[in-house]
Amino acid sequence: MWGSGGRWSGTLIVPMSESDNQGCSGLAVMKISIIGTGYVGAVTGACLAELGHDIIFVGRDTKKLDLIQSGKSPIYEPGLDQLLEKNLSKITTTIDLPDAICKTALTFICVGTPSNDDGSIDLDQVRAVSHSIGKSLASDDGYHTIIVKSTVLPGTSETLVIPILEKESAKKVFVDFGIASNPEFLKEGSAVADFFHTDRVVIGTNDLKSRSVLEELYTPLNVPIYATTIRTSEMIKYTSNAFLATKISFANEIGNLCKKMGIDSYDVFRGVGLDARISPHFFRSGIGFGGSCFPKDVRALIAHARTLGVEPQILTAVIETNEDQPEKMIELLKRHMYITGKTIGILGLAFKPDSDDVRESRAIPVIEALQKEGATIIAYDPVAIDNFKRLFPDISYTNDAQDVLNADAVLIVTEWKEFEDLDYHGKLVIDGRRLEKARKEAAVYEGVCW
Ligand code: UDX
Repeated sequence: MWGSGGRWSGTLIVPMSESDNQGCSGLAVMKISIIGTGYVGAVTGACLAELGHDIIFVGRDTKKLDLIQSGKSPIYEPGLDQLLEKNLSKITTTIDLPDAICKTALTFICVGTPSNDDGSIDLDQVRAVSHSIGKSLASDDGYHTIIVKSTVLPGTSETLVIPILEKESAKKVFVDFGIASNPEFLKEGSAVADFFHTDRVVIGTNDLKSRSVLEELYTPLNVPIYATTIRTSEMIKYTSNAFLATKISFANEIGNLCKKMGIDSYDVFRGVGLDARISPHFFRSGIGFGGSCFPKDVRALIAHARTLGVEPQILTAVIETNEDQPEKMIELLKRHMYITGKTIGILGLAFKPDSDDVRESRAIPVIEALQKEGATIIAYDPVAIDNFKRLFPDISYTNDAQDVLNADAVLIVTEWKEFEDLDYHGKLVIDGRRLEKARKEAAVYEGVCW
């Protein structure tokens, strides 16, 4: 629906019933280029191939492209290998961006938007690919739609991407080419399932043609599609991540309080989460959030708010609480031993289970604090050791979790399922993630918020 300012107001397109859906098999195959082969690009491309579309992955790292071309995922993500292998006939890879643009009608920008030192967003990669796409559009005869999937601050597509595309191509947006925002809500470790069973797809467009292309693309998922403006769509992504991060820091603050009062915060949140207004999801207290999104996106929103003259007090507290939380493990450990000279075992290095990603992993501040106290570290993770070694080359690693259990104390940092199979009898365990078996068996057990 068009709003009074000549813009779309949000429209929710509800999924079709099964009988309505029967015509979907007749949907046209689209030719799509995916720029960026990280978590977002790799998963999006593989899943769109599964929906029947022809995909060209565009990247700079030929090793990653070769992996994809041989049906192997360039990242650790459950289910992704199988999906790439199954759809190989629909997938090609290239380092030649102009060639990919020329052979496709849709392009997803899936490049990284990391943080600058001051927390603000670094848009260098978005800027660089916008220049390349724009130049390629100049000689592209067809109507091309560019979709920004990278997480970018509200206004970025309109004030940065579109002007670059128009200048480089000497073409007019919405006349000669289309553009849309389509944020991702994929969780690492369950990204493939999240793509197909998302609560909603958000599409931000300022013109009818781009909107109908994206509606057609996502209709087969049979999930609600929320259609809105580009700027609003960009803000939905930040607001979602900021809210979830806030919920976790809130759970941790209440959890710290519960710990002081001898109350199990998990019991509390179970009772509170039964209220449908609150929901039980993303309500696990512990040692805080890490990963490539929550810390970076909340910091970027804080930095952006300040440029607009708004002091984001809640978001600032969310980050501060998150930064303090790993320290709780050390405080609890000190209650039970003098750390200096002891060997401390670390279970889990990835920022969450089912991922090899160590970006902003809570293991980083935990190990730094232990080193400051003069401890020797021995660490285990099922898949993230190689990535962690790049950050901490000098601590000891083991491929046998049992070695960690033989240390003077064990700290549980990531809740890998296989840690439920270990024997914690007789051990001193400080648990940052609530592992039930350790809670029941350990000789001395402390949970961070329970
Ligand atoms: C997140 C968002 O969930 C996803 O929608 C967005 O697209 C990318 O960022 P991701 O970072 O992959 O996904 O993982 P997520 O499951 O959200 O966990 C993030 C961090 O929060 C992890 O460190 C996790 O341990 C922590 N967490 C999560 C909690 O501490 N408590 C919770 O209740 C949930």
